[in-house]
Amino acid sequence: MKNKSIALILGMPILLALGACSDEKGTPPSGKEKSAAVAPSGALYVDNRWYSPEQVKRGEALFQQNCAECHKPDASGDPNWKQTDAEGKLPPPPLNGTAHAWHHPMPMLQQIVKNGGIPMGGSMPAFKEKLTPEQINDILAWVQSHWPDKTYTTWMQINQRKS
Ligand code: HEC
Repeated sequence: MKNKSIALILGMPILLALGACSDEKGTPPSGKEKSAAVAPSGALYVDNRWYSPEQVKRGEALFQQNCAECHKPDASGDPNWKQTDAEGKLPPPPLNGTAHAWHHPMPMLQQIVKNGGIPMGGSMPAFKEKLTPEQINDILAWVQSHWPDKTYTTWMQINQRKS
């Protein structure tokens, strides 16, 4: 009896710590959270990132359906993405970490996909009528799975500064 209650007391902080993470599953960093990649089990997601392998898988299918025609099936975009065309529009940029999508904190990436680029003088269509916020997060998870660790780490720092 005595030993059992000691074990319970010792076990408490661990249970509390795990419980505190349980609703963070797959929630993208908003800039306010310090550690975003902790799964409910306490284990870290693939490569210590905020998203789960399932999100990346769902995101890939959604990206191929909605984004690949412009941003290319491998997210490599247009090699001339910095050059405006005759109408002053930019071609679809790479999203694979080679261009500058990673300069944008998560809320801004979500906004770009929701509202597209037309309100800012660009040509990307809006997806807010077509995709749910969860589907947009899944797509961004797949996109970010292309980013090397160094790029991802820099993006996390940007996220924590501005949100
Ligand atoms: C019709 C072509 C087209 C489609 C479809 C499209 N985009 Fe884009 N996207 C663009 C263009 C062009 C830009 C550059 C800004 C602009 O002109 O609107 C852009 C910009 C972006 C940016 C900003 C990148 C940066 O470096 O600032 C992100 C992120 C993005 N697109 C994600 C997506 C995602 C995710 C999808 C699918 C849900 C998608 N796009 C579908 C054409 C497209």
